[in-house]
Amino acid sequence: MPTSTVDAVFETHLSFQGRRQGKVRDVYDLPSTDAPRLLLVATDRVSAFDVVMPTALPGKGRILTAIASAWFDFLRARAFVGDHVISTDVPPLPPADADMKSALEGRVMVCRAAKVVPIECVVRGYLAGSAWSEYQEAGTACSIRLPARLTQCEQLPTPIFTPATKESHGHDENISFDRGCALVGGDLMERLRDLSLKIYTAAATHALSRGLILADTKFEFGYALDRHGAPTDELLIVDEVLTPDSSRYWPLEGYAPGRDQPSFDKQYLRNWLLELVAKGLWGKCAPGPALPSDVVAGTLARYEEALVKLRTT
Ligand SMILES: Nc1ncnc2c1ncn2[C@@H]1O[C@H](COP(=O)(O)OP(=O)(O)OP(=O)(O)O)[C@@H](O)[C@H]1O
Ligand SMILES: [Mg+2]
Repeated sequence: MPTSTVDAVFETHLSFQGRRQGKVRDVYDLPSTDAPRLLLVATDRVSAFDVVMPTALPGKGRILTAIASAWFDFLRARAFVGDHVISTDVPPLPPADADMKSALEGRVMVCRAAKVVPIECVVRGYLAGSAWSEYQEAGTACSIRLPARLTQCEQLPTPIFTPATKESHGHDENISFDRGCALVGGDLMERLRDLSLKIYTAAATHALSRGLILADTKFEFGYALDRHGAPTDELLIVDEVLTPDSSRYWPLEGYAPGRDQPSFDKQYLRNWLLELVAKGLWGKCAPGPALPSDVVAGTLARYEEALVKLRTT
């Protein structure tokens, strides 16, 4: 079914326990007789500059789930680290939610619950976004000194790990590797860095074979919980992976450093929002502006194109 004809799911109110909302996902505790399980519902909400827009992108949650699920399979096959996915089938629903089954189809993940490490593991292979802004001012990206005379969107000599704190409110904050060590411990930071760089490198190589440049991306990790809800020492990759929400994807065709790149992610939406900011019509704070239909369609089309390209065999 073309996503444009699908009803948007802005938010869900299922009867499972423990409902909470991220910017994009609704999360529930699932009944379990063993280790705790979560239901992650990828809604059609979109956030930019950490603000959830009031307009949904119909079908976006399904596209994200399809992309993340394919990448989880890819990572599992390479055995870098365990992941939290148990199933992408809609679980048995409480009777009161029976009518939600079709709306949930394709946008859910049943997952092993984890104690999430409060570090956003960002890897950058190219100089874009906030890293490009910082580089122009200071010659660094997230405090990492880079070679002189790099241009916008240029490939870095080697991918860099630029962690950020995971803030429950407001903007995530870039931190140095040492600050991360002080927060969660040096051994764990080294493990997060090594895993993140390995995963980025494998994924970027794969994406390139599909005509996509994976410019940067963000991972989250967590410790699997045991049946009593206590964290074990089993590290898992959690949340979403390598989606256009968590990553910058550019078309390989026509790529040229020295300018902004067209993209298959929410950069299109961000650019539209930045025009509003430049006109003084929006201040990058909640509430976000309602999105006109051409911006909804344009953003969705880019997400769809990423899915189609990544699926190409
Ligand atoms: N296996 C897991 N166990 C526990 N929490 C998880 C697991 N997987 C994902 N999460 C958490 O569920 C939430 C998913 O919601 P969503 O992706 O909308 O989050 P967000 O943090 O608001 O947005 P962003 O990803 O942009 O930071 C996140 O807080 C994420 O850390
Ligand atoms: Mg998230």
